[in-house]
Amino acid sequence: MRRNLMTAFAQAQPNIALVKYWGKRDTTLNLPAAGSLSITLDALWTRTRITFDASLENDSLELNGRQDTRTLPKVSACLDILRQLAGVTCKAQVQTRNNFPTAAGLASSASGFAALVMAASTALNISPDRRFLSTVARQGSGSAARSLYGGFVLMHTGMQDDGSDAFAEPLLEANQWPLEVVVAITTHEQKSVGSGAGMERSRQTSPFHSSWISSVDADLAEATQAINMRDFEALADISEHSCLKMHADMLASRPPLMYWTAATVACIALIRDLRERDGLGVFFTVDAGPQVKAVCLPQDAAQIAAALATVPGVIDVVRSGLGEGASILAPEKAQ
Ligand code: PMV
Repeated sequence: MRRNLMTAFAQAQPNIALVKYWGKRDTTLNLPAAGSLSITLDALWTRTRITFDASLENDSLELNGRQDTRTLPKVSACLDILRQLAGVTCKAQVQTRNNFPTAAGLASSASGFAALVMAASTALNISPDRRFLSTVARQGSGSAARSLYGGFVLMHTGMQDDGSDAFAEPLLEANQWPLEVVVAITTHEQKSVGSGAGMERSRQTSPFHSSWISSVDADLAEATQAINMRDFEALADISEHSCLKMHADMLASRPPLMYWTAATVACIALIRDLRERDGLGVFFTVDAGPQVKAVCLPQDAAQIAAALATVPGVIDVVRSGLGEGASILAPEKAQ
């Protein structure tokens, strides 16, 4: 009997939030307590091949050549939504790889789930709109909703209990304001507390959490205006403020969430010096890990990368422009 295989390949790039997401209003559907705003990168990617096969008994997930049973339940949950839409029950084999360190504050879950839903919906031959796909990716990882789109992306909090309006949408294409990002990598190790558990800890224990959440809407408005005006200084100011406020919430959690290392702090100090002392167009942002992302004007990127590479504890420096949203790949590229 001929096996009924449905297969597709997709790629997605990680994104970096400028107005941060840290807190959920619902953990089952992964609904954010506030919106967020991000830029999608182009040099870093996740490539995912999916095959739905009626002869499989279970879903399986291979990440960078190894079985990943920890992430598998979330992958299956996203696939279930798409399977239901397609009227299909067969299980899937998912093979995925990243060209950057996984789970070290570089949002590999964002590109991972964005690539997954893109590949799966294509393999299943359904064509839901990207907005819907972003709500499916969100259920794997909140930030993944944003990686469906390129350039500057806004994630909505949404009001509905079913999460149908908690989706991402594009604000500006990458080429409409082609900023660059220099990532200072300070470790290749996985972070100690994942973002999901960390957010819940902050919600339950940080005395700052509710004021952090209620401050996000104003930050989104300010960042959106800065982007529309291409006002780099204003974007630098609001982005660093949002990042430091999120880390204040993390630090005020019990036990504290301390993602920074000495190298993180040294990179932040250097970036501030490069801007304030040397007049370069650059600002920092840091997520749930010790890596530092320097967002900069393209003409200053080489100088910033060279300076960050000299910081003790920085083991690698990666440069990236802004990139496109998730896309389908030709089969030969995915290997
Ligand atoms: O959606 P998650 O679980 O990848 O959490 C993202 C959390 C931060 O990276 C710290 C902030 C953000 O908005 O990306």
